[in-house]
Amino acid sequence: MDKPHQAMPDIEILPAHFPIPGMGFLAVNAFVIKAREPVLVDTGMGIESEEFMKALESVIDPQDLRWVWLTHDDADHTGNIQRILEAAPSARLAANSLAVLRMSTSWPVPMHRVYWLNSGDSISVGDRNLTAVRPPMFDNPTTIGIYDNKSEAFFSADCFGAIIPSPAGNADDLTERDLAQGMISWESADSPWVHMVKPNEFNQTLDRIRQLAPKMIFSAHLPPARGKIEQFLKLLATVPTSTPFVTPNQTALEQILAQMKGGS
Ligand SMILES: [Fe+2]
Ligand SMILES: [Fe+2]
Repeated sequence: MDKPHQAMPDIEILPAHFPIPGMGFLAVNAFVIKAREPVLVDTGMGIESEEFMKALESVIDPQDLRWVWLTHDDADHTGNIQRILEAAPSARLAANSLAVLRMSTSWPVPMHRVYWLNSGDSISVGDRNLTAVRPPMFDNPTTIGIYDNKSEAFFSADCFGAIIPSPAGNADDLTERDLAQGMISWESADSPWVHMVKPNEFNQTLDRIRQLAPKMIFSAHLPPARGKIEQFLKLLATVPTSTPFVTPNQTALEQILAQMKGGS
């Protein structure tokens, strides 16, 4: 885990980064929205459970949480979900119904605490409304991002992620070239279906986010980005016709293992 910090007056980021051998790093962020009914967005990685709980406790007493919003049920977002629901007995679990169904195959989800959301549905958390918005790119059918009408921030789940050369605290710390290359390759790798869509139709989904005009983007896989939505949407528009990402094969794995052995 990296050090938690305040990204907006009432939004804390719980950042981590995950090394991608031979390519760089991927941010893995969770967030706390300090609404009147406080919300945790995603629950970090299970591999650093202790650190995640400490980071969370450094910004809020988990007992004060009223909501845990899962953007989707991938492991890098659900790593500490059971632990958090125990530590936060007053919190309800906001998620897509399919995410709850899928998680129920591996642990007993307390259904009486669940709140099912589809894209377009909203919850009031006291001082603001949080609306479920499916981001234009996603790697999981249960994905629901969040538009927060008070902070005008969009929590975009995996969308707008990027593989970056070194961990960074803010998207402004990245060069435009690193950001563009990192985001295009991440989106192609994470959402390979994008190469099958018609660019014109895809652009309509980008326009829906353009109309939302979020001032801040909180991706799970990018440092926080202020005032960059137009730049990001233009990058995403290029992904359907970009060169598809090819995942490393066994030859690459053997090279990585040989490098690790050489370095040890
Ligand atoms: Fe994902
Ligand atoms: Fe993810």
